[in-house]
Amino acid sequence: MDNWTTSHDRVLAQRNAEGWMFLIEAARDLRTTGAIAPSSKALARLLTAPVQEHGMQPLNVLEAGAGTGSVTRTLLPRLSPGSRLDIVEANGRFVSQLRRLVRTHPRLVGERERIHVHHTLVEQLDIGHPYDVIVSGLPFTNFTPAQVETIMNRYMELLHPGGILTYFAYCGTRYVRFLTASRAEARRHRAVEEVLADYRRRYATGCWTVWGNLPPANVWQLRRPLPGAVPAALDIAAGVAL
Ligand SMILES: C[S@@+](CC[C@H](N)C(=O)[O-])C[C@H]1O[C@@H](n2cnc3c(N)ncnc32)[C@H](O)[C@@H]1O
Repeated sequence: MDNWTTSHDRVLAQRNAEGWMFLIEAARDLRTTGAIAPSSKALARLLTAPVQEHGMQPLNVLEAGAGTGSVTRTLLPRLSPGSRLDIVEANGRFVSQLRRLVRTHPRLVGERERIHVHHTLVEQLDIGHPYDVIVSGLPFTNFTPAQVETIMNRYMELLHPGGILTYFAYCGTRYVRFLTASRAEARRHRAVEEVLADYRRRYATGCWTVWGNLPPANVWQLRRPLPGAVPAALDIAAGVAL
């Protein structure tokens, strides 16, 4: 067996194990886990695109809700030398997995001390420095509107002026909830969407649909305005389908 076959087999086995781990955590607590499978490569690439767009400039990056690390794995090789990454995750079993990923990732030789995995809720993260990019994997539509307002507000506070936030939302969840959940749940879901829509009206600079994910998802990009700048109105119809 050659090296390529063995390393390819190892990657497949690892993805399989992570898929199972995710499913088990979703069965334990679907509201917090927010999905039954990790994000696809296509979704991870789009969520982390602003990191790549900065080129060789060292960045401060925050990833919130990293799960088993499917987005982290795309993010790590995109970080330029000297960058700092804070990874925040609420689930202790995912945290152990993420710490193992950081400890063993071959691209992090000499950079590991700048990568920190925090076992906490992102709304309780106490960090003294602002970020250039925030990548959020949080399942907002499972939260209360007040929680989403608190988190979005905190994200905007944590960004440098001009800094970028990306987050995703699965397509069609409102209709599924409308058809399958109680009226109170459907109302909560709609209220969360209104909170997010308000932030998008003020700060959104891009939206793309990723069809190559299960389920398909919209990726949103928001920018904290520079002082004195008028926020650009977003032409949502310009969103690119992948
Ligand atoms: C939909 S999963 C996304 C996981 C991963 N980013 C991906 O795309 O495959 C959401 C993750 O957010 C975590 N989470 C939920 N609420 C959180 C919070 N308030 N703070 C930090 N992490 C949270 C969950 O434990 C879960 O791992």
